Amino acid sequence: MCGIVGYIGKQDVRNLLLEGLKRLEYRGYDSSGLAVFAQDGFSVVRCTGRVSNLVEATAKNSEEGTLGISHTRWATHGGVTESNTHPHVSSDGKIALVHNGVIENYVEMRKFLETKGFTFSSETDTEALSNLIAYHYAKEQTDAKDASRFFIAVKKALSHVEGTYGIAVTCVDYPDELIGARKGSPLIVGVGQGEYILASDVSAIITHTSNVVYLNDDEMVSMSRDDFRVVSAADEGVDPIIDTIDWDVEDAEKGEFAHYMLKEIFEQPAALENAMRGRFSDDSSTAIFGGLNLTPRELRQVDRILFTSCGTAWHACLVAEYLIERYARIPVEVEYASELRYRNAPLDKNTLVFVITQSGETIDTLGALREAKRKGYRALAITNGVGSTIAREADGGIYQHAGPEIGVASTKAFTSQLMIAAMLALYLGRLRDMSYTDGVEMVKALRSVPELVTETLKQDAQIKEIAVKYAEYADFLFLGRQAMFPVALEGALKLKEISYIHAEGYPAAEMKHGPIALISEECPSVFIATDGEIFQKVLSNIQEVKARKGKVILIHSKSCEVPRELVDDAIVIPDAADSIMPILATVPLQLLSYYIAVARGCDVDKPRNLAKSVTVE
Ligand code: G6P
Repeated sequence: MCGIVGYIGKQDVRNLLLEGLKRLEYRGYDSSGLAVFAQDGFSVVRCTGRVSNLVEATAKNSEEGTLGISHTRWATHGGVTESNTHPHVSSDGKIALVHNGVIENYVEMRKFLETKGFTFSSETDTEALSNLIAYHYAKEQTDAKDASRFFIAVKKALSHVEGTYGIAVTCVDYPDELIGARKGSPLIVGVGQGEYILASDVSAIITHTSNVVYLNDDEMVSMSRDDFRVVSAADEGVDPIIDTIDWDVEDAEKGEFAHYMLKEIFEQPAALENAMRGRFSDDSSTAIFGGLNLTPRELRQVDRILFTSCGTAWHACLVAEYLIERYARIPVEVEYASELRYRNAPLDKNTLVFVITQSGETIDTLGALREAKRKGYRALAITNGVGSTIAREADGGIYQHAGPEIGVASTKAFTSQLMIAAMLALYLGRLRDMSYTDGVEMVKALRSVPELVTETLKQDAQIKEIAVKYAEYADFLFLGRQAMFPVALEGALKLKEISYIHAEGYPAAEMKHGPIALISEECPSVFIATDGEIFQKVLSNIQEVKARKGKVILIHSKSCEVPRELVDDAIVIPDAADSIMPILATVPLQLLSYYIAVARGCDVDKPRNLAKSVTVE
């Protein structure tokens, strides 16, 4: 949510900031701006709309410099206007600031600052902080031995903030110092040779350096051209750990694909392979996970698992519930993280908490994880965000290794979460009642997934044709039973997110209790049904739709016998074991929503109002 890039070094900062912002645009794209430390003070350019507008404006209207900060915004406080766009310069002209997060006590701050003569030109919470830093800066008279007057002012101002922040700050009197700080919003330092980049995530820095320091909450960093220093909340120097980012620049580029989303859909065979790599036992009868930090004996004592997360990852939790209950016979519950964190849910002492999060930064998921840990529960994470806040705070977990996901609508990260859920079901099952031979069968099934997904992707052209046919409908239902119910929810969410079509996911039989009222020639239904004991039941549900003149698109596995007259369009997925069907059935839904959105002329990678990583409540 919102992207930050700051730079101090020897290059002209403008191109570097703009390039970083373009890479971070998936975090927010309402407006963007930059401030360059120039000859006569800050050179500030701000624009509403996409970063491309800022590129044009910067070319016409900015000065060069080697220190600067920039921001791409996803509006929280105040509408999408140029005056609300970051950077915010304090009214005395001393401080320029970009900020992610929410300052909850900004109204009181603002009132106080107005009595001290500071003025405001925006409706944002951020401007209160830039003025508050300026206020403390004016009060501070000299540099201290180990910190500048500027640094002390930032620190003092932050001690009055209630809420969350990731910030990059410059001061007009300090041409050789860039300051960053975080609490609740991610911030990293890219460590180069004679240059440092401050950013809200790694995609902004990978073209320059793969050395990165992940800041922790309540830490501040001060950077000059030759050195940087991290200081903890307790004012102690921190020995920063420099990690190496293990992805290439190409991983975060579109290549020949029209959109990141399409590229990421097609990357699924590789992402699924990566989720499995090195994670099966030598006898191929179970999965192994190095990072759970729980012994098999401890895991046997778990008698309930609580999964929690947000958005698409929440759908992955629901699939995990079906798989773990079925294969490991452990009761599973699923909660929205935003609800769980404020509910005083009674948890049994043998409950294990699992969060699932692509980014590892979602604020509600982080809040739920912290709450579970505070209550003394073991809280683990399945995440794609290596080095993310959640990865660092969880008691253990499983990395997805799906590679960077840039498209706002999650695709490869979701199926990789389903793969890990299936592997976890296998692992926990084998610690209990699952036999050796059943384990071997399940491993075989899991290993076949990349190939079966590749086969499913070959239907791309056919799915595109179907999508074009249905692109103008205003409402859709997505219906499935058992593990296909969360898949239906995910199909509906994908369509909503990127094509702005109203879509609802329901358990197919539950349709009779309400949604059936929506069925008409104008509201198509997408059914997902795989071969198995309830296939006939789903066919009955389809009959009910047909009887009301509803159009039906059916995604079914190959050996299902489908009466032709019941469906308007069918998409066939390979026959496979139940454990992997949710993955296979998801792929056509992704393509369907993608091509419908493209046919409607929507901006697939940057859908309106959405952001990839939601770091505010
Ligand atoms: C946002 C994104 C969704 C994502 C959700 C949870 O809403 O737009 O695609 O599923 O956040 O994100 P996480 O990173 O925690 O999986």
